[in-house]
Amino acid sequence: MKTIEFTLNGALRQFDIEPDETLIDLLRRVGLTGTKRGCDTGMCGSCAVIMDGRAINACILFAFQAAGRTIETIEGIGDFDQPHPLQVAMADAGAVQCGFCTPGIVMTAKALLEEKPDADEADFRQHLDGNLCRCTGYVKIKEALLSCSANETASGEAS
Ligand code: FES
Ligand code: FES
Repeated sequence: MKTIEFTLNGALRQFDIEPDETLIDLLRRVGLTGTKRGCDTGMCGSCAVIMDGRAINACILFAFQAAGRTIETIEGIGDFDQPHPLQVAMADAGAVQCGFCTPGIVMTAKALLEEKPDADEADFRQHLDGNLCRCTGYVKIKEALLSCSANETASGEAS
């Protein structure tokens, strides 16, 4: 057992971890079950969280690798009463069916938009190529994410 410390959803937290515990195991063990376990091998993106501003797959990161970092999970960006604009957009566009992929998609898109607020369709395609959805066919997801881009907002205002 080892004790590590990192900032989780804005609060500095300490955790006792096993050396081989993954970040997704730790997050879900402490109740943050919005981070979903799909493939558990880094292939589906359903476990995506943001570490120091970049989307990463929590299933292929050991918990000890989060020590000293800043981690954001879906629980940290919005809730039922005050959802994040990306969550609103996903719901409004009908981009959520079973919802299993949704937290990972929202977190990955959030990281992209923080780095590039005017992300275009090509940016979303490239950035989210590791986020799989088995339900929607991606069309509604694309609409939802693009509606949150400053690029889209600007072109929408112009038209
Ligand atoms: S559960 Fe982590 S990438 Fe699939
Ligand atoms: S909504 Fe079901 S996997 Fe994406």
